[in-house]
Amino acid sequence: MKILGIDIGGSAVKGAPVDTRTGRLVAPRHRIATDKKLSPKEMAATIKRLAAHFDWAGPIGVGFPGVVHGPRILTSANLHKDFCDCDVVRLFGKATGCPVALINDADAAGMAEIRFGAGRDITGTVLLLTLGTGVGSALFCNGRLFPNSELGHLPIRGKSAERFVSSAAKDRRDLDYKEWGKELRDYIRVLEKILWPERIIIGGGVSKNHAKFFKYIKPRAQLVPAEFFNEAGIVGAAMWAAEQQRKR
Ligand code: BGC
Repeated sequence: MKILGIDIGGSAVKGAPVDTRTGRLVAPRHRIATDKKLSPKEMAATIKRLAAHFDWAGPIGVGFPGVVHGPRILTSANLHKDFCDCDVVRLFGKATGCPVALINDADAAGMAEIRFGAGRDITGTVLLLTLGTGVGSALFCNGRLFPNSELGHLPIRGKSAERFVSSAAKDRRDLDYKEWGKELRDYIRVLEKILWPERIIIGGGVSKNHAKFFKYIKPRAQLVPAEFFNEAGIVGAAMWAAEQQRKR
């Protein structure tokens, strides 16, 4: 099935049509930079532009960095606050004229990695962490998703962990890989004490530099970089929409 996968992020909205049987993009990814926090209405116009770029008239899967319940977004830690309690399935559906399915961005990335990437050959508990503007998490047991795990908001020193361990926090706090790697080590130790994953997959742009910081983490689980890098969110959002289409 061909679905337009869209990944809404802190600095850009990216999308591409995906063949959900293979996890491959069927056209080059298109990226629209967002230099400010877009309101839901402005975001709908951006999604419409993205769909128009591909001349798209079919189903769309959207990954959003917040808690998702059905068609609604419940939280928006790093994007416009007006997304809280917003029915974006209706809003984006109206803007594009296409059926829209919504999923948390990290859950989307996890779906792509579990099916086609760094989690494809493993049973048991797998945890994906995406390190970007925030920290996203996706938790799987035997390939099944436990949605909205939001482990980036685990309290550390009274604040959300993502304030210390996201890659944005590394830059903001001017940490080198060693200093940041040790922060990550402490965070991942807490997660391991609670969840006991067999494998931990690290995604987000910074995962391409994994050789510079994996050595400081020393987890019990196997620690591996994501295989999709930039495209997991797009592919997973499309996979999610394909699942919703099948249920119709
Ligand atoms: C959000 C998550 C999201 C993560 C990565 C966090 O701030 O709460 O929903 O997955 O950022 O984008």
